[in-house]
Amino acid sequence: MEIKSAKFVISNASYEQCPDSKLPEIAFIGRSNVGKSSLINMLCMHEGLAKTSSKPGKTLLINHFKINDAWHLVDLPGYGYAQVSLQQREKLHRMITDYVEKREQLYCLFVLIDSRLKPQQIDLDFMDFLGEVGVPFAIVMTKTDKISQTELAKNLKMFKQKMSENWEALPEIFLTSSEKKRGREAMLQYIEQVLQS
Ligand code: GTP
Ligand code: MG
Repeated sequence: MEIKSAKFVISNASYEQCPDSKLPEIAFIGRSNVGKSSLINMLCMHEGLAKTSSKPGKTLLINHFKINDAWHLVDLPGYGYAQVSLQQREKLHRMITDYVEKREQLYCLFVLIDSRLKPQQIDLDFMDFLGEVGVPFAIVMTKTDKISQTELAKNLKMFKQKMSENWEALPEIFLTSSEKKRGREAMLQYIEQVLQS
């Protein structure tokens, strides 16, 4: 798929306020600071489209972007962000889980995982939740430019092993780097396929 246009539409604090549109949606989720907004900018080849920051907790709302006037790309707040009040954390958690569970036009969720880390319980728990609510998802390993091929292979193997404990079949896994623009073609091809299904 070629991205011909990418436009910011709106930011919202709840799924109920999201655009009243039947366009299919592809959303991005993962721990705070994992690289969701950077990946979106890389996919759209549009620096600054989604706001990024070196500090966690940058994206705190549900952000819709219209792509090729045909579908919505959705940047979600990260989960597991500890530097806010319990009340704020609960609000964010509710915002994310409500969107994921209730947004009917959500075609696919990309779950971003930091490729440098050993399998994290919070990510495994989130994927279990997706299994429970039956939302289709794919995995995106981020920041692969920050580790060696050997380390990446090792972490990937561990991740797959850990996931296999709970899942019979593993989802699609993309290896990416927003810095090096790695994984763009494969992800866009997958999105095209999902939108046609
Ligand atoms: P929140 O909105 O806070 O949940 O974070 P996010 O997941 O949207 O992360 P964001 O895209 O803002 O990136 C966080 C930090 O990681 C920024 O400093 C980015 O420059 C950096 N980063 C993101 N992707 C990559 C990557 O592929 N390689 C490298 N080296 N750095 C990256
Ligand atoms: Mg963000």
